[in-house]
Amino acid sequence: MTITASVDRTIRLIASGTASGETCTPELLEAPWEIDLERPGYGPGASMADPIPADSPRQGELPQEYREASDDELAGRIRAARRRLGDRVMILGHFYQREEVVRFADFVGDSFQLANAAKANPAAEAIVFCGVHFMAETADILTSGRQSVILPNLAAGCSMADMADIDSVEEAWEQLMELYADERPDPDAGGRAPVIPVTYMNSSAALKAFCGRHGGIVCTSSNAATVLRWAFERGSRVLFFPDQHLGRNTAKAMGVPVERMPLWNPRRRLGGNDAESLRDARVILWQGFCSVHKRFTVSQIERARAEHEDVRVIVHPECSMEVVDAADEHGSTDYIVKAIQGAPAGSTFAIGTEINLVQRLAAEYPQHTIFCLDSVVCPCSTMYRIHPGYLAWVLESLVEGRVVNRVQVDEDTAADARIALERMLAARPDTTMAA
Ligand code: 13P
Ligand code: SF4
Repeated sequence: MTITASVDRTIRLIASGTASGETCTPELLEAPWEIDLERPGYGPGASMADPIPADSPRQGELPQEYREASDDELAGRIRAARRRLGDRVMILGHFYQREEVVRFADFVGDSFQLANAAKANPAAEAIVFCGVHFMAETADILTSGRQSVILPNLAAGCSMADMADIDSVEEAWEQLMELYADERPDPDAGGRAPVIPVTYMNSSAALKAFCGRHGGIVCTSSNAATVLRWAFERGSRVLFFPDQHLGRNTAKAMGVPVERMPLWNPRRRLGGNDAESLRDARVILWQGFCSVHKRFTVSQIERARAEHEDVRVIVHPECSMEVVDAADEHGSTDYIVKAIQGAPAGSTFAIGTEINLVQRLAAEYPQHTIFCLDSVVCPCSTMYRIHPGYLAWVLESLVEGRVVNRVQVDEDTAADARIALERMLAARPDTTMAA
C-alpha cells in the first residue's frame, strides 16, 4: 500500500477495495456525521457525567450542503473564509488530526504546545481548535473571555478523558482522605500532604479544577516526570488520573517500584485495594487507558525488529508498560517528532502512536523509513470527527458574524483549573535528579 500523508484517503481506498490493507472500524467514514440528539451533553467528550452548563451548545446535524460537498469544494470554501477572516481567527491543529484539516492550521502541535499557542495569541477573536474537547476547554481556560474557542464538532471527545468523571474522583478522594486521616499534615510544621492529585491534560475541566482546589496539578505526556517530582516534593503519594499507563511508565522510569502503584477501580470500594497497599502506595493509578495506544503490542515490536535490522522503536507513554519496556525509547508526540527530525538520513523508525502523525512524518521525511507498529489503519476515532465539512461550517458562520460551537468553561471551574494549569506551566524540569 502506498503511504500518503492522508489517512482518510488510505481508509477510503481500503474501504472501496482499491487498496489492500485493513482498518479497525469500517464504520469510521460515517463517524463524523453521527450525532446523538437524544442525550444531552457534549456527546463523547468531557466526561459524560460532568455537569454541562444549560446554555452550552449541543452538536446538531451539520447542514446538508457541507455533508455532501466534495473535498475540493470544501477546501475552496475553507480557504475563502479563512482569507476573509484574516488575523481575527487562529486555527490550531493537533498532531493526530487528519491531513485534510491540518493543512489549514496556523499552528500544529501537541496538546501542551497548542495550549501555549492559544495563550500566546490574545489578538485572535476566535480560536478554532481542531483537536478534541478537553483541549478546547483548556484553551478556553487559558485565553481571555473576549476570545471564543470553537470546537468544529462538539462530538469530538476523548474516550480516555471519559473514564474519570468528577463524581467518581470526588468519591475516591473522600475514601482516601478517610484512610489517611491520621497522616493529615500540620500546616505549621510544613508537613507533606498524604496525597496529591495529578490529572493528565486529557481530562475534563472539572478534574483540572479538582486538582486546583486540592493542591494538585496538571501534566502532559511531555512533562509528566517534572510534574511527578513537583508532586512528590509536596506529598507522600500521588493520585494519578485518568491514564494508568502514563502514570505507571513515568513513575517507573523515576524509580518507583511497580508494587507501590496500586490500580484504582472507581466501581469498587477503596478502588478494589486493601488499606495496607494504599498506605504503602507511592502512586495510585486510575484505571483509565487510551484505546488507540492499547493496540500496540510487544509482538508488533518483535516483528518490526525481525523485518528491519536497524529499526528504532519509539512508542508513546500511553502504551502499556510491557510495550514501553520492549521499545528502544518512549516519549510524547513532540519527542517522537524531534527524534525523527534529528536522525541521520536513512534511519528506520517503527512508531507506536496515532496513525495520522505517523503517516504525516513518513511523507515529510522521505529520507527515512517510518512506519506505524500496527499495520491496521486505526486512527483516533474522535479526532477523526473533525471533518473538513465542520471546519468549513464554523468558519463560514464566523464570516456571517455567528459564533457556533463555542466551548466555554464556567468561571468558577475555570478559576480553579487555571491554578492547576499554572502550577504545571511554572514547574521546571529538575536536571539534578535522575530520570
Ligand atoms: P499529546 O499530549 O502528545 O498532545 O497527546 C495527546 C493525546 O491525546 C495522546 O493520545
Ligand atoms: Fe484520547 Fe487516545 Fe484519542 Fe488521545 S488518542 S484523544 S488519549 S482517545
